[in-house]
Amino acid sequence: MSVLKITDVSKIFPNGPKAVDRFSLDVADGELVCLLGPSGSGKSTLLRMVGGFETPSSGLMTIDGEDITRLPPEKRPTGMVFQSHALWTHMNVFKNLAFGLKLRKVPAAEIKRRVEGVLDLVGLGGYGLRSVTQLSGGQQQRVALARSLVLEPKILLLDEPFASLDQHLRERLREEVRDIQQRLKITTLFVTHGQDEALSMADRIVVMRDGRTEQIDRPDIVYREPRTPFVAGFIGSMNSLDGTVTKGIFTAANFTVGLPVSDGPATLCVRPEALDLKVVADGPHGNVHRVTDYGTHGLVDLALPDGTRIKAMVAHPDLFQVGQGVRMTPQAMAAYRDGMLIHRTAIDASLSRPPERIDA
Ligand SMILES: Nc1ncnc2c1ncn2[C@@H]1O[C@H](COP(=O)(O)OP(=O)(O)OP(=O)(O)O)[C@@H](O)[C@H]1O
Ligand SMILES: [Mg+2]
Repeated sequence: MSVLKITDVSKIFPNGPKAVDRFSLDVADGELVCLLGPSGSGKSTLLRMVGGFETPSSGLMTIDGEDITRLPPEKRPTGMVFQSHALWTHMNVFKNLAFGLKLRKVPAAEIKRRVEGVLDLVGLGGYGLRSVTQLSGGQQQRVALARSLVLEPKILLLDEPFASLDQHLRERLREEVRDIQQRLKITTLFVTHGQDEALSMADRIVVMRDGRTEQIDRPDIVYREPRTPFVAGFIGSMNSLDGTVTKGIFTAANFTVGLPVSDGPATLCVRPEALDLKVVADGPHGNVHRVTDYGTHGLVDLALPDGTRIKAMVAHPDLFQVGQGVRMTPQAMAAYRDGMLIHRTAIDASLSRPPERIDA
């Protein structure tokens, strides 16, 4: 039962950038929050400050109300798995896990019980006597996770723990970690720059940019209701059209759509799966540039007359041919001006899509 509270925390490295800039976040008991953002956005720095491996320049961090801001790592109830995990290669698996417990003067019999229990939990029961150098990459990552879990931390901190693994193993491990995290109900902060990882694992996502929060929300909200153009473009595939609004009509190249906002410039964002296409002989918005069939669906690449490229997801790619003129109808869209959301249609594209063809 643990709550992490981060309040107005900043980190300015000497001669360096403001890596974290007045960042605040509350992680609820048992919650898994993902920090998502581009390289250099301050994710690791923030996590390292929570773990005690970096000192904040200002701000406050508490766990269950207790101020931990200045505590050394070993005095904190946190367990951290680092971006580049460092197992002790001269020790076997058991000793890697037992090390931290020995430091804490846990009796030998209890060490054995806890280490074996946690190895079972991560699916490595019976691996205690193996040298860590004889393990696969995925097994080593599980040992690194087990080494944190065995200390029974109140807060688990994971910094891109699967970054070095192949796609397949990554998907499997993230399901395992999510299962373990939910079974233990352990409050977790998870850093990733993989959006799939964040969307599939997190209770909430924090999108970070330049050390600051761009948006904090549930994964489905971050995906469907991105608050800024940065979030819209960073999570998932997104079409972006820069144009102008005049009397409630948005225009970019020869594409127009009703947009009930005041006159001025606007950026219109539409997901590929929310864009309906229709092949037309007259007055096309753009022409088919490429058609890709992914089996489960197709992607049509469009070229607009001004050179803008647009992607649309279609159920029947065989209906489209390169060079054909098409008209676009957005089923759901968001519009931004000066970096702020000014309009959004609340249609769930996946439910509202009409079929492109009804086979007789
Ligand atoms: N010890 C340090 N000294 C000076 N600058 C640092 C130090 N550690 C990180 N930085 C800088 O702080 C910023 C944030 O770095 P950080 O490692 O937190 O980014 P990140 O979001 O984890 O990126 P990545 O996705 O590449 O791991 C970067 O500009 C980085 O160069
Ligand atoms: Mg990092």
